[in-house]
Amino acid sequence: MSDLAIFPLTSEHKMLRDAARDFAQKEIAPIAAEFDESGEFPAKTIRKMGEMGFMGIEVPEEYGGSEMDSLAYMLALEEICKVDASHGVIMSVNNSLYCHGIMKFGSNEQREKFVVPVASGQVIGAYSLTEPMSGSDAGTMKTRAVRDGDVYVINGRKSWVTSGPVAEYVVLFAVTAPEKGQKGISAFLIDSNQPGFIRGKKEPKLGIRASATSELIFDNYRCPVENRLGEEGEGFKIAMTVLDAGRIGIASQALGIAEAAYEAARQYAGEREAFGQKIGQFQGTGFKIADMKTRIEASRLLIYNAALAKEKSKQDGGRYSLEAAMAKLYASETAMFVTHQAVQIHGGMGYSKELPVERYFRDAKITEIYEGTSEIQRLVISRSELGSK
Ligand code: CAA
Repeated sequence: MSDLAIFPLTSEHKMLRDAARDFAQKEIAPIAAEFDESGEFPAKTIRKMGEMGFMGIEVPEEYGGSEMDSLAYMLALEEICKVDASHGVIMSVNNSLYCHGIMKFGSNEQREKFVVPVASGQVIGAYSLTEPMSGSDAGTMKTRAVRDGDVYVINGRKSWVTSGPVAEYVVLFAVTAPEKGQKGISAFLIDSNQPGFIRGKKEPKLGIRASATSELIFDNYRCPVENRLGEEGEGFKIAMTVLDAGRIGIASQALGIAEAAYEAARQYAGEREAFGQKIGQFQGTGFKIADMKTRIEASRLLIYNAALAKEKSKQDGGRYSLEAAMAKLYASETAMFVTHQAVQIHGGMGYSKELPVERYFRDAKITEIYEGTSEIQRLVISRSELGSK
């Protein structure tokens, strides 16, 4: 990777990036294929990532985090994802969808209880918006939270929750006032140790197989009023604001996957011979390499730009939905493009489980789907440009 001139990295950025790179190479690389195959959750390495300070990079030290900026977080996440996208998504959801939302919208008491153990990596956090019949159209959720004195009684079924099978705490979105549509949605901080919290079916997945994804069922779960995040009716805006941060994380995951696939393809093109020469000497391969490299560097620029926009938003409270959507759209489609080309350059070996290239290909696909599909990113971008909503 080149240190791009317009994004000068500080010595702290470089130290964190190098520490993440070392950790990923030493601790994750040897186990990535095995955990992908078994689908087992890599609890030990995730715990070590917590000890390294990777699970709450932007969270202030007083709340258990590493107190670094958004760019630092992107650099570390990219390095983890270059080696294994499953570890990467667990880290991304923990940092962006969980810690970021509570730091932004929570009270000090909520941060103390719900952020400290998660940012310091002792336990894992999750974010639960989607339902079986409510995905892209998130405002149509049905899970109900009914106020009963000092508690909300929550009933409903959530789906596709990253880290659902293992999370200690969950940021949950549920309807408090059905007649108000999106403005009747509220956010809650859920403790998985309380009665009425049930972990549902674990999803068997094409890629990111070592990250655990499941349904969550709420059966008369009693959530104390003090665990509501923000005011009643603010839930949809909280969900969307948090997803802006999440989308930059997924863009960074996509970048890491693309870089890994690119590096494997570049090396293979310089080694493998056919028709009397290295396959990289054929223009058909060389032009693939050129397109892969260019799209990767363009993704990086969009991601770093979005990270800086997020940093600015911490000062002025402005939105960076456009920057985040462009970064996620471009980086995820680049990950799909690059991993596809990498398999093609490897030929039969790209299809074999003996090399990680087929894993990169399978892992890339989800980046075009979760935290807003490519179609939703195009909707966000076009609405922003055309002012149509
Ligand atoms: N930040 C702050 N506010 C926002 C916002 C944002 N990014 N986006 C929208 N809002 C606000 C709007 O300003 C509007 O507020 P007002 O009514 O006060 O003006 C309100 O929210 C409603 O906005 P829209 O009218 O734009 O809402 P919409 O119904 O048209 O939906 C959408 C917009 C972009 C399609 C949105 O529904 C969306 O992003 N859908 C995709 C959901 C998604 O990404 N799901 C993934 C879930 S997480 C996951 O993948 C699992 C996991 O564990 C990783």
